[in-house]
Amino acid sequence: MKAFAIDRFGEDGSLRELPDPVAGPGELLVRVTVAGVNPVDWKIRDGAHGPRPFPLILGVDFAGVIEAAGSGVADFRVGERIFGAARAHGSYAERTVVPTSSNEAPIAKIPAGLSDAVAALLPIAGLTALATLARLDVPRGESLLIYGATGGVGAIAVQIAHARGIHVIGTARSGKEDALRALGADEVIVYDRNDVIDGVKAAHPDGITGVIDLVNDGVAIKRLAEIVRNGGRVVSAIRSIDDAAWFGERGITATNLAMGQTPQSSRAGLEELVALIEAGTVVVDVKAAYPLAEAGAVLAALKSGKTSGNIVLNVAPGA
Ligand SMILES: NC(=O)c1ccc[n+]([C@@H]2O[C@H](COP(=O)([O-])OP(=O)(O)OC[C@H]3O[C@@H](n4cnc5c(N)ncnc54)[C@H](OP(=O)(O)O)[C@@H]3O)[C@@H](O)[C@H]2O)c1
Repeated sequence: MKAFAIDRFGEDGSLRELPDPVAGPGELLVRVTVAGVNPVDWKIRDGAHGPRPFPLILGVDFAGVIEAAGSGVADFRVGERIFGAARAHGSYAERTVVPTSSNEAPIAKIPAGLSDAVAALLPIAGLTALATLARLDVPRGESLLIYGATGGVGAIAVQIAHARGIHVIGTARSGKEDALRALGADEVIVYDRNDVIDGVKAAHPDGITGVIDLVNDGVAIKRLAEIVRNGGRVVSAIRSIDDAAWFGERGITATNLAMGQTPQSSRAGLEELVALIEAGTVVVDVKAAYPLAEAGAVLAALKSGKTSGNIVLNVAPGA
């Protein structure tokens, strides 16, 4: 099969011929149609997520069709369309193998009416949005800052929070303000023209209840203490909370979140995302689609910040 892989960490990667993977007990062999692109893909490529065997096929999120089932699989059938996170075998390849009952690498069926491309954009971003919102538990009417609101995770989180009646403050770079308002943000702070913390402070002198932080490092994130009220909560999806006690002394609960270790990372979580899409509560648009051979250039653009969110690789011809 054709696969986009690396032979050592830090390489751009290349398209090459590799053997098809084989489904073991409780696993499915999937013909991948579309791979969703996430920042974690270049982080894994750069070695930031620990040791891996080489050649390493990149990519996690996928949509595709079941080609074969290993022994003991009862709830999925050959020919069904599925989507999810292919953590062990990668998704930038014509075939992958996924377990049927792993919460770290969940899968679910794609209903008729949902495209493979949209399904491939849901697992990591959508489950992270659900998990961060659940962790923060911001009540209806109270304020939530989503720092990094226009990307894959942020755009879904904005829509769900808005539907739950939460007052959403989102950050966007210049030119994306209207798109962010259209997603349901009540307030938009243009981060390349204004100081985000000063902006929130001016509009919410008594402080806000929650923050989903998808951007700030361990130093910058401490400024959130200037805007989160006593009893408020901060979740970092990029592991920037290295001193939770410091936040605790200021009455703020601050935690890091690893999506794969949350209750939302499950088949039920994926099904909840599908239901939100089917209800029209969440709309996910494919921003750009590229051939598999261009995966290296796509990851470079994502890493540099030139692009963000909702990019797919078309793996199967005609996908
Ligand atoms: N821990 C986990 O399990 C987990 C799960 C999912 C994601 N993540 C991480 O969370 C981060 C976001 O993921 P994603 O998929 O949403 O990424 P993405 O689609 O690339 O979006 C990145 C977002 O960050 C914004 N941004 C970039 N620089 C900024 C700045 N200086 N100030 C404010 N906003 C800025 C971008 O805004 P503009 O496009 O408007 O510039 C965009 O909204 C990534 O680092 C990813 O690896 C972690």
